[in-house]
Amino acid sequence: MARHLITSAIPYINGIKHLGNLVGSQLPADLFARYQRGRGHEVLYLCATDEHGTPAELAAAKAGKPVAEYCAEMHETQAEIARGFRLSFDHFGRSSSPQNHRLTQAFAARLDEAGLIEERVETQIYSKADGRYLPDRYIEGTCPNCGFESARGDQCDNCTKQLDPVDLIEPRSVISGSTDLEPRETKHLYLRQSKMRGELSDWIDSKADWPVLTTSIARKWLNDGDGLQDRGITRDLDWGIPVKKGEADWPGMEGKVFYVWFDAPIEYIACAQEWVDAGKGDDWERWWRTDRGADDVRYTQFMGKDNVPFHTLSFPATILGSGEPWKLVDYIKSFNYLNYDGGQFSTSRGRGVFMDQALEVLPADYWRWWLLSHAPESSDAEFTWENFQQSVNKDLADVLGNFVSRVTKFCRSKFGEEVPAGGAHGEREEQLIADLERRLRAYEGHMDAIEVRKAAMELRGIWVAGNEYLQDAAPWATFKTDPEAAAMQIRLALNLIRLYAVLSAPFIPDASAQLMTAMNTEDDAWPGDVTGALSVLPVGHGFTVPDVTFRKITDEEREDWQARFAGTRG
Ligand code: 2FM
Ligand code: ZN
Repeated sequence: MARHLITSAIPYINGIKHLGNLVGSQLPADLFARYQRGRGHEVLYLCATDEHGTPAELAAAKAGKPVAEYCAEMHETQAEIARGFRLSFDHFGRSSSPQNHRLTQAFAARLDEAGLIEERVETQIYSKADGRYLPDRYIEGTCPNCGFESARGDQCDNCTKQLDPVDLIEPRSVISGSTDLEPRETKHLYLRQSKMRGELSDWIDSKADWPVLTTSIARKWLNDGDGLQDRGITRDLDWGIPVKKGEADWPGMEGKVFYVWFDAPIEYIACAQEWVDAGKGDDWERWWRTDRGADDVRYTQFMGKDNVPFHTLSFPATILGSGEPWKLVDYIKSFNYLNYDGGQFSTSRGRGVFMDQALEVLPADYWRWWLLSHAPESSDAEFTWENFQQSVNKDLADVLGNFVSRVTKFCRSKFGEEVPAGGAHGEREEQLIADLERRLRAYEGHMDAIEVRKAAMELRGIWVAGNEYLQDAAPWATFKTDPEAAAMQIRLALNLIRLYAVLSAPFIPDASAQLMTAMNTEDDAWPGDVTGALSVLPVGHGFTVPDVTFRKITDEEREDWQARFAGTRG
């Protein structure tokens, strides 16, 4: 039995995520976690909310709530929606947890001892009206290059020129609109990751099996321009993890917090501690400390491509720089973007379908199937309502749902609600079994390699094979001349339904549970071989005809939803 540690990028706290966020991290991670558990392996699947930073503060202010209260509520909201999508986290933690506070401060102390922290005094813009320093993108003004009036402090969106806030003409605060801004000197900690360039570069080079999307982004950051830049790991904010050296004060850093991107990935570890402290597990170190058994763990991370630099370089710099025996990631699965109906999903503009809205429209399995079978792996992908309707109606309703319904109803009417006796496999059955055997091995291969789309297509192929067999064997016709043979065909098909439930569970867990209940069995063991799997339900075993497994989406509904989601979220 292998052990799999799995994490998906931890979503920001400030609002409900859209389907593009979901398919780029949590959903494929859940697929993989469910699959590995199904294969009988030990899995620890962790996720959390990413709660610090200016966006969290501003979202709380907008909601008129203290930030701690806002985060606690939004964490619950996100947890509830995650349950709705059947995301099977072993723990859904919070980056604001006491565990993460302690661990982040401890990492900073270790990095300092290792000579990897530098204090730098820099000039930043302070807004007196807001009573705070403003991050670059919260300062707007006129672009010195093109005259665009809403250029941001980091970049002009009109001419794309990279800017410094001090370049802006008539700068103002995005938060309050105030122009009463002044440059002030402030001290910050920098992580000297440039000193680790060689070590990081060797580590990336050793990952020949990683997706090209992952390694190409990492190499670009390692090699472009001046290479790996040292990075500021503190901020002048109220909300965050106070800058301390372990448990001790850090002279000169009073009132400052760690940068959200410093503490967020550390939460992957702290989350395992939260899992233990919540009484769900009893040993987090065997997952995270290589001196405590984590050498045997295979650690896989899931994320969108925008998160890759932080996971291939920054977080490993923290881990390696600490000089402590922490587990490093073994495989990073990254995703391109999912677009929405001719444009981009956008959280700030409320464009697209958000996770809560999706569940109001249809149950989780419909979305899980479409999203995973169209995962943006080799390139960006696009959600359209036409395509969604087509996939659901064909794959789920016509192929899988129809098979289940025909087999169970036919059996009930001719043989009653139990697995019928009689007949032995013939040539057609042997061929089907050989075909399924090949397909099963291919499916496992794609799932092991986390080739999500290919796995979905193979699973679909497995459903189609059953349908074609049924069409070809035509037990309803066989029954008239040879009831024994028809009974054998149906016995095989009922067993196929159970096998489909087991194989499909990582993609469509609710439907799978429904089929297991209908087949009246709890035997969800992953098949050793197809022949064995097709004799799990013995002659005389009772079953029930399930309700509709998947319904079709009508043209009217599709048009309705298209119109409803065409504007922006209210
Ligand atoms: O992109 C995001 O949603 C970030 N909150 C991901 C953080 S992942 C990690 F570092 F924890
Ligand atoms: Zn400009």
